[in-house]
Amino acid sequence: MKVIAGNWKMNLTLNEAIDLAISIKTSNKNEIILFPPSIYALKIKELLKDKNIKIGVQNVFYEEFGAFTGEISAPMVKSCNLDYVLIGHSERRKFFYETDEVINKKIKKALSFNLNVILCVGETLSERESKKHFEVVKRQVLSAIEGIDNFKNLKIAYEPVWAIGTGVNAKPEDANEMHHFIKEIINLYVLYGGSVNENNAYSLLSQHYIDGLLIGNSSLKKEAFNKIIDIAELF
Ligand code: PGA
Repeated sequence: MKVIAGNWKMNLTLNEAIDLAISIKTSNKNEIILFPPSIYALKIKELLKDKNIKIGVQNVFYEEFGAFTGEISAPMVKSCNLDYVLIGHSERRKFFYETDEVINKKIKKALSFNLNVILCVGETLSERESKKHFEVVKRQVLSAIEGIDNFKNLKIAYEPVWAIGTGVNAKPEDANEMHHFIKEIINLYVLYGGSVNENNAYSLLSQHYIDGLLIGNSSLKKEAFNKIIDIAELF
């Protein structure tokens, strides 16, 4: 089973989001997941309730309830019957100063509410250029899973920061090498993310250790995203 996930980030108005969501293809064989902005997630979940498409949010806080203005929590997501949460996306790390420690707390809380979690990891360009990418990703993975003993609902997305939104995807062989490395630390599903499109999806999915794709820009284009869903059917 391949996992094809669309991360819509902070894009689309409600009507645009609905229009996109209802046009997404389903699969009997692979898992399709959409991460709309959280304010639209419940509506989209209801609209797609008869379709085999999972819905998630792009972030949760590590506390359950209380005076945390602007945040949403794992029990809230669970109470909306949403399926997934992304944790530790590089944009959260960069713009919202999420540390490895915060990410670990968020994962623990989300898993304790039986949410499926996709942990995002990945090195920056300067870290890769200075050949620290394995070390950085290992630190991110190990600190994120510290103190967790049940990994049933956890997946990882390897998203090199230099490949996100840049149009420059990692070479499939390089991504494969990192996925192999991650799976030797902990053997979970590992998705690749970073400038995936309908033209490079096949070569990425062909790699032995690439179990799926986490897609930003191309998930906002229905033709492109549906094409990638079709491509994944070939595996
Ligand atoms: P991108 O984003 O496909 O636009 O590079 C991927 C992501 O950030 O998950």
